[in-house]
Amino acid sequence: MNILVIGQGGREHTLVWKIAQSPLVNKIYCTPGNAGIAQIAELIPIGDNFAELADWAESSNIDLTIVGPENPLAAGIVDVFREHGLSAFGPDKQAARLEGSKDFAKQLMVDNEIPTAAYQTFDDPDQAIDYIKTINTSVFVKADGLAAGKGVIPGRTIEEATQAVKTILVDRTFGEAGDSVVIEEELIGEEASFTVLTDGSHCIPFVSSQDHKMSHDGDTGKNTGGMGAYSPAPVMTQELHDYVMESVVYPTVKGMDKIGCLFKGVLYVGLMITDAGPKVLEFNCRFGDPETQVLLPRLKSDLVPLMMACIDGTLDQHTDIAWHTDAAACIVMASGGYPNPYQTGKSITGLEDAWSIDGLNVFHAGTEQDGDNIVTAGGRVLGVTALADDLKTAIEKAYQGIATIHFDEAHWRKDIGYRALSRS
Ligand code: AMP
Ligand code: GLY
Repeated sequence: MNILVIGQGGREHTLVWKIAQSPLVNKIYCTPGNAGIAQIAELIPIGDNFAELADWAESSNIDLTIVGPENPLAAGIVDVFREHGLSAFGPDKQAARLEGSKDFAKQLMVDNEIPTAAYQTFDDPDQAIDYIKTINTSVFVKADGLAAGKGVIPGRTIEEATQAVKTILVDRTFGEAGDSVVIEEELIGEEASFTVLTDGSHCIPFVSSQDHKMSHDGDTGKNTGGMGAYSPAPVMTQELHDYVMESVVYPTVKGMDKIGCLFKGVLYVGLMITDAGPKVLEFNCRFGDPETQVLLPRLKSDLVPLMMACIDGTLDQHTDIAWHTDAAACIVMASGGYPNPYQTGKSITGLEDAWSIDGLNVFHAGTEQDGDNIVTAGGRVLGVTALADDLKTAIEKAYQGIATIHFDEAHWRKDIGYRALSRS
């Protein structure tokens, strides 16, 4: 098979790395890609015009296109590929609203009795502020649309929540994504990510994982795309796993089907494990980044037939998916300053030494080739990922990998996995 991967982050490098191991795969292309992906796949310089991409895929005999990020999914790339008679993995535009509109997701949860925080949606700032004053409790204020993970603002006091409403609805910091806000009550507990593959009817759960969203140690600093991840997440017991499948995953997939939005692809459920049980924080319509970096190295089975089965509606024929028992940890090396403005073009050294450590993978995110050098080209630069018998050893090995790599002003968290380690 010839495969096209869309995207350029650590998630996409991990996807390319995993599918390159499939005996079914002949050639992998990626757009736009990064320096790490270029070592396995051919990067193709086509812009993000979906019709042009689909024309290229058709003339290049692409058998499967895998869409990594949420933006092209929400903008309908899968619909365009389908119209060209091409197989593309991921939800169509209607179904991608599960991530693309927080209000849509909340309404779906209410309609299907899926556990989540109480909420209201507003497009009028005065009404939103009145509501905040009435409920007088700690809230999260969320831009309705896609805002690259930055559209969620805590409002722990009335003043903070009011400011958040103004930032989104009045200052329009997130543009159209902030046409309306979802205000929801704060949930207290430990977070976990739950990832499933679905063909719109059947679901295959992945092993559990957890990311670290805040930029600095002790979960301080600013919200980022994710500074590291680990799998398994010990907070997700078998009992909770079964509960989430029954009370969240199946009701979501069935609820989407009921309203004519068959959801095919990856359903990522962000959960808060509260004293009253797991509640949904968010849905994503694609693999998590950096969760993918710890999930796919643990997957023993071939991912390609699973993805094809999601598209074909035959996922029930794949009940035998296998996992490595090893634990995995990923530590993100970021550019100094990230998630605030940062410099790029810093030369990266030590990558080969890190790759040569047994069980260590260095997944590239913001990197590019500059002559003979690989240089930084984004906020999150590398996801240094280790597999080992247990989580503690995996984390130690990932930090050993970090110690061999250098670029100016590199920044990484020193406490990845601390919650999981404190449980054991
Ligand atoms: P989201 O993109 O909606 O998952 O929000 C990003 C992050 O904000 C989550 O991973 C949580 O850490 C936090 N968050 C969002 N909503 C809530 C909530 N209702 N209660 C507590 N934390 C929240
Ligand atoms: N790591 C969280 C996300 O991918 O949205």
